[in-house]
Amino acid sequence: MKILITATSFMDKMNNEAIDEITRFADEIVLNPFKRPMTADELIEMSEGCDGIIAGLDHYDSRFFEAAPASVKVISRYGVGYDRVDIAAARNRGIIVTNTPGVNSESVADLAFGLMLAVARNISQADREIREGGWPRFKGVELYGKSLGILGLGSIGKAVALRAVGFSMRVSASDPYIDVKYADEHNIRVCSFDEIVTGSDFISVHLPLNESTTGIIGSEVIAGMKKDAIVINTARGGIVDEKAMYEALKSGRLGGYGVDAYAVEPPVNEPLLTLPNVVATPHSGSHTREATRKMASLSVRNLIDVLSGKFCGFEVR
Ligand code: DGY
Repeated sequence: MKILITATSFMDKMNNEAIDEITRFADEIVLNPFKRPMTADELIEMSEGCDGIIAGLDHYDSRFFEAAPASVKVISRYGVGYDRVDIAAARNRGIIVTNTPGVNSESVADLAFGLMLAVARNISQADREIREGGWPRFKGVELYGKSLGILGLGSIGKAVALRAVGFSMRVSASDPYIDVKYADEHNIRVCSFDEIVTGSDFISVHLPLNESTTGIIGSEVIAGMKKDAIVINTARGGIVDEKAMYEALKSGRLGGYGVDAYAVEPPVNEPLLTLPNVVATPHSGSHTREATRKMASLSVRNLIDVLSGKFCGFEVR
């Protein structure tokens, strides 16, 4: 078997067990040489003769599937999101797509919370300025007693909610398939999307990117947010209209934006990154020792199950 591994954090010594397992299974392993998500052309070329791919955040679009080598039978996402994989096109080609839900939730929730604190207390800017000899004593805002609106109460949203309860925030959430029992048990108010975006001091986005969520946080929604609201996006860049977000932050309408996910990754000349009230990280929500180890193990298991003709419980349909 020949396997292409495009996920750039896969080959880490922390992931030894998964690396050993895939090394035992495969006759040949090809790695992503670019240290960034690969383009369709690069994927087509590098997957030549491969039976499966352990996939990072590359774009497996219709172009890829039109020209993908016939040998490719499985795309095993190292991660939960599959918005960059054209599932219908994969199905037409008979290529199975799998993912690793749940295993990076705590890590992403930690980063969402870190961004919330970093924006609320200007931590990144203070760090930059003090290193340059400054002594900038910014006046931030407390999380204590503030309202946090969670868009998407899946496993990451739930993990963020638990952290927020510990910080004595008032937590609300909206989700088309909300887990009412969980919300009740943890004192999370169930709200509509509109109630969350218009009534929260902090808004944390944990939605998948799909047709109905693309650009959902657009200029009108942003205009309806509370003045000085802080928005955190560790989900996907395409959910937020980045231009509208830039305008609102620049004009002082919003308090800040903590962002880990961008419409284009890595972002190129992104105006948001010029603003002091933006704290940005490079799509690293799941980059912890614990989460990458689990994503590596599960993505390898999924790939081996599919290629061995076994049942795989993590097939995306
Ligand atoms: C995910 O799980 O989809 C993260 O964005 C990392 O791939």
